[in-house]
Amino acid sequence: MKTSEKRENNLSHLAIIMDGNGRWSEQKGLPREDGHKEGVKSLRKLLRYIDDFNIPYLTVFSFSTDNWKRPKSEISNLMNLLRKFIQTDLIELHNKNVKIRIIGNREGVPKDIVKLIDSSEFLTRDNDGLYLQIAFNYSGRDEIINALKKIGTSIKSGDIDPYNINEDIVNSNLFTAGLPEPDLLIRTGSEKRISNFLLWQLAYTEIYFEKALWPDFNKDLLTKAVNDFNNRYRRYGRIEERLKK
Ligand code: FPP
Repeated sequence: MKTSEKRENNLSHLAIIMDGNGRWSEQKGLPREDGHKEGVKSLRKLLRYIDDFNIPYLTVFSFSTDNWKRPKSEISNLMNLLRKFIQTDLIELHNKNVKIRIIGNREGVPKDIVKLIDSSEFLTRDNDGLYLQIAFNYSGRDEIINALKKIGTSIKSGDIDPYNINEDIVNSNLFTAGLPEPDLLIRTGSEKRISNFLLWQLAYTEIYFEKALWPDFNKDLLTKAVNDFNNRYRRYGRIEERLKK
């Protein structure tokens, strides 16, 4: 393989839809909240073994704007899990040089969680180890609407000429501004959907569906997904060199 192809195939940004917590608990006859708790444990383990993979950016989907449709008790459980996660894991992550960014809509999020989010981003702002993005109260469509509002405001104020709108302008108005697009998306739990995650950013992302439920995800399964990714040839709309006349 040529060096340029190798570089193209490097895994810089991994995104994960951590699906299957509910089914994990149902299979064991446990309440759904136990599945989510195990989901957090699985994420915590990932944040430890991911160091071995040399992946600089990680984005995980922890709460979708569509999750507000779930029963109130489950919503408050998911909120509590983020609260606890930040309270218990922030210092360890900071000591490991992890930079945290929480993407999504702050509206509707309890005020104390917004404070925790802000303080975790502030504390880790200068870290240059793993860049961890947690998508919380996030959906791709909501993110695009938010970007359109910002761009619309800049048009109104005369800062942007609508005819000059390009991908860079859209990118810089997304929650993920400044980050490379995901190279690989892993969705656990058998479902084969994008579910309103990173809709703009996934345009050329390789997608890998894993049958295991999120609480059962582990280092071996990540290795399998990364190996699969490394054997893919990414064309970005081009044709393969060998087919060019
Ligand atoms: C999908 O499982 C998972 C979620 C809706 C939440 C994911 C959250 C976590 C892993 C824990 C929270 C993370 C942080 C950072 C605190 P599901 O309930 O849709 O599972 P099902 O499809 O089997 O019902």
